[in-house]
Amino acid sequence: MTRILSPTPQNIARIGRALAEGEVIGMPTETVYGLAGAAFQPEALARIFETKERPTFDPLIIHITPLTSTSNLPSLMHLEELGLVAASSMSAQARQNAEKIIQKFWPGPLTLVLPKSAQVPDLATSGLPTVAVRMPRHPIAQAIIRAAGTPLAAPSANRFGRISPTSAQDVFAELSGRISWIVDGGSCEIGLESTIVDLSASGKLTLLRPGGTAGELIEQVTGEKLHHFKPELRTGTRTTEKAQPAPGMLLSHYAPVKGMRMLPFRLAEASDEGIRNYFKGFGKNEILGILLLSGDPSRAIQRIGPSCIVYSLSADGDPASLARNLFCQMRALDSSAATLLFTEPCTGETGLLFAVRDRLTRACVRSPS
Ligand code: TXA
Ligand code: MG
Repeated sequence: MTRILSPTPQNIARIGRALAEGEVIGMPTETVYGLAGAAFQPEALARIFETKERPTFDPLIIHITPLTSTSNLPSLMHLEELGLVAASSMSAQARQNAEKIIQKFWPGPLTLVLPKSAQVPDLATSGLPTVAVRMPRHPIAQAIIRAAGTPLAAPSANRFGRISPTSAQDVFAELSGRISWIVDGGSCEIGLESTIVDLSASGKLTLLRPGGTAGELIEQVTGEKLHHFKPELRTGTRTTEKAQPAPGMLLSHYAPVKGMRMLPFRLAEASDEGIRNYFKGFGKNEILGILLLSGDPSRAIQRIGPSCIVYSLSADGDPASLARNLFCQMRALDSSAATLLFTEPCTGETGLLFAVRDRLTRACVRSPS
């Protein structure tokens, strides 16, 4: 039986004890909900992989928190003390970049990949010599980590390859019956995952995943160029398991179960004839489910025809609204009566829009099976 708990002090204390004993639970963060387990307990880590049906070659992010709510500004030394990071193997340049990023962006939606300490179980890092660490800013996440008294490994609380959950109810829909508790923190403020930056021992910065922290800001703060890692666009389904890139480089695909197609146009820029011609190619009995980046859904229905369900991510294209609504509306379309799903294309190259573009592109990757 899975229960959604309100974040009362008693419940947080109870959840903290359960985590210390090796249970895994659903936890809110400012980005998406996580499936949390004690980072130094291999059995808890194994439970995370099993609960999510996640292949063990896809490594986890470790979540930490300031030790008290007022003290301990985060630093590399803090990560060494926690037994997570081997900072001594980093060049002076790499250490300097790490400190700048940590001081500027933690707590917040930014994950750093750093050389790992020998104490971190290989299961958490899929055998990589590096570990991904993040300090969430959500007060309930912080309270849960403090109550557990240990860093927590927490991937997004969805089944592998599916859309990340942005509410306690979404986690319930994904993992009901597989975990005992989900702590309810309401809807996630950012709505998509953290930005992941790899800080190699030499100090070079590589953007592994765009997310809640703008890449341009990271470049400003460090004064260095971010190299972009480009995964091949293939799905993360088990059918492609043999052909995976290196651990940590997996293209997990955030996809609706029904699949999704990228429209070749923005509705506002297309002619009525162009719209008619495009949708004519699909069967008459289909119910079209359409995700707009912005604009008025009823106007879109007038133009496309009555047999469609339309959601709009924002009134006016505001990036924060687009990011916040993206996964919850993709999920809503997926569970609606729509039989074919479409999204408008996003061409954003900076900030949250770049992250939205990344998620939409991945959602539209077709499974080879
Ligand atoms: O916002 C977030 O980061 C959320 C919340 C819950 O904090 N968590 C999250 O975790 O998105 P997850 O498991 O869905 O994404 C983890 C990704 C892996 O798929 C991998 O790409 C990358 O983090 N990763 C983890 N460890 C890595 C490593 N050592 N090297 C390279 N990439 C790593
Ligand atoms: Mg995920």
